[in-house]
Amino acid sequence: MIEIKLSSKQAKVELKKLAKKIAEHDKLYHGEDEPRISDSEYDSLRHKNEEIEAQFPHLIRADSPSKKVGFAVSGKFSKVTHKVPMLSLANAFSREDIEDFYDKIRRFLGLDEQEEIVVFAEPKIDGLSFSARYENGVFVQGATRGDGAVGEDITANLATFLPQKLEGDFPEILEVRGEVYMSHADFKNLNINQEAIGAKIFANPRNAAAGSLRQLDSSITASRNLRYFVYGMGEISDNSTKSQSNINIYFKSLGLITNPLVQELRSVDQIFEYYNNLYAKRPDLEYDIDGIVYKINRRDWQERLGFISRSPRWAIAHKFPAEQAKTLLEKIDIQVGRTGALTPVAHLTPINVGGVIVSRATLHNEDEIRRKDIREGDIVVVQRAGDVIPQIVAVDLAKRPVKSKEFAFPDRCPICDSHAVREEGEVAKRCSGGLVCRAQAVEQLKHFVSKSAFDIDGLGQKQIETFWKDRLIAKPADIFYLEERDEKDPLKSLAHREGWGKKSVDKLFQAINERRNIGLDRFIYALGIRYIGSGTAKLLARNYGSFDGWFESMKGDDYENLLAIDGVGGKVADEITRFFEEKHNVEAIKELSGLLNIKDVEAPQSKSLISGKTVVFTGSLAKITRAEAKARAESLGAKVSGSVSARTDYVVAGESAGSKLKKANELGVTTMNEDEWLEFISGGKNS
Ligand code: IVH
Repeated sequence: MIEIKLSSKQAKVELKKLAKKIAEHDKLYHGEDEPRISDSEYDSLRHKNEEIEAQFPHLIRADSPSKKVGFAVSGKFSKVTHKVPMLSLANAFSREDIEDFYDKIRRFLGLDEQEEIVVFAEPKIDGLSFSARYENGVFVQGATRGDGAVGEDITANLATFLPQKLEGDFPEILEVRGEVYMSHADFKNLNINQEAIGAKIFANPRNAAAGSLRQLDSSITASRNLRYFVYGMGEISDNSTKSQSNINIYFKSLGLITNPLVQELRSVDQIFEYYNNLYAKRPDLEYDIDGIVYKINRRDWQERLGFISRSPRWAIAHKFPAEQAKTLLEKIDIQVGRTGALTPVAHLTPINVGGVIVSRATLHNEDEIRRKDIREGDIVVVQRAGDVIPQIVAVDLAKRPVKSKEFAFPDRCPICDSHAVREEGEVAKRCSGGLVCRAQAVEQLKHFVSKSAFDIDGLGQKQIETFWKDRLIAKPADIFYLEERDEKDPLKSLAHREGWGKKSVDKLFQAINERRNIGLDRFIYALGIRYIGSGTAKLLARNYGSFDGWFESMKGDDYENLLAIDGVGGKVADEITRFFEEKHNVEAIKELSGLLNIKDVEAPQSKSLISGKTVVFTGSLAKITRAEAKARAESLGAKVSGSVSARTDYVVAGESAGSKLKKANELGVTTMNEDEWLEFISGGKNS
């Protein structure tokens, strides 16, 4: 080690200079790909900085280069695809919900009443989730959750407070998952400082943590004193932990911070004891929690239980009761959504509900307003739970003004004045204007470019609004004509619009062109058919495999086959049928498909014998439950159907199988018993 002889004053000046210099070279290297010094010169600058910091630790700056790893801070975060998706949790609010969670697990795993189910309880931290990747014990990349599949690269920011190196016996690759939060004291101090400098005041610690983590300049993050707890993992190269509680111990041995209030619990009674205790402790904790997460402790059971949609079957979030407050309902406004539904929205005198300022609340529909007799001018009880949109739970009738009048729900669309009709069995009144209605057309377009649909960089909700207003885009296909339009008439190029330039327009066209390659599931979802969320869109895509397969089937009458898809019910099948009965919808899809390359659904990567095959389970199974059989088959890429047809590949017949087995035999479909099936999917036999 080279001894640098400096006074404290000189050291301070030197550290400041080095921080500035290294940041400049970081920017040149990572942000602009134009390094001006050699790697070894750069290393020696960092080395010098470390030496001085080692001698004068009290002088380490908030923006010290040693707290950064020198990653791109380039005006925008780059994207990180999570190797293992970051999922969310199902919620429980009552004892019944928790008992239901236990029952489902018992049924799925086929456990009897006597078998003990141990859960690992952890406080549910109200912060922001992150993923941090360590390679050979060194922190190399950090990301936000994003949409669960793709997050943002916040490596430089996480590096300001996560350990750079793991201790102890770390695996070659480890991705840890956890929550970033800000303590109550830090939150208070931050707001005092913000106020003093006239900067933004944060509504709650979670917002403050979010604002601090998503900073393009990581020195700001470094100054905010963020903290974290880890609670799970993504990719790991050598995974021998047998339980969730072991994972917790293991994380601690690696030098990572885990929550100290975690506990193993062995019954629903113990769960409630823990819940009541933590609920009582909540006001004294130095960070916000919004509930408790229970995770099935055994890892082998976690694996068998797997996932349903976007949440693990093996974990549940037990939420604390919602926060409530009273305020004035100033006005009821009617909004028109993508499908034409008229939704009443309450405008409130802003009120703080459990740390969040609320000024609007949903009123759901006409019946809800009538049932609760909610009127403009009422003092109402507003409730907020987690991320759910605030709701009005009751009216304080004692405070109702004498002249108050019942709310008259409109019969016409407030946007296009078309009739608003309520069909039988429906709760919502709908505008009958279809795409004539500005609100529907714009909302439909916004949906088309939303995150889970086309997700075009640079074409967000705001741009869609203005492009629509200026008649550049009237329908989804128009997005893909923008470039051609620009080339034909350069005088009217988008580059002349306010806020746009040649560079940003070129980037937009590039992003649009990249999205001409689109997965079938995203394409189906983007169409905005009622009741088709991204989960159902995936089911449909997997079932039909290719755009042509799907489109041709939809144009014909495929109602029965739609219903046979596990997870597709009558409501969805009805809606798809209705959608395809409209000629203009079929035309729009045809036009779009000509502009796009809609990719077939790739079979899962595993070389499963049953990927893409259709399987029907019938009769009672003895070794695994029906739910587990279905989940396992699906995880191997098979489609599980409820009825046998000529399209069925395998029928697995358990005890006392009846008509389905008979039909399979008549149609010449391959049938197997349970043992044969289990052997088959474990790769033991091919047919
Ligand atoms: S486990 C696949 N454990 O809650 C399992 N999540 O509502 C995923 N969270 O996105 C999460 N504390 O941001 C887990 N102890 C904890 C947690 C926790 C907070 C957050 C996390 C997640 C969200 C799900």
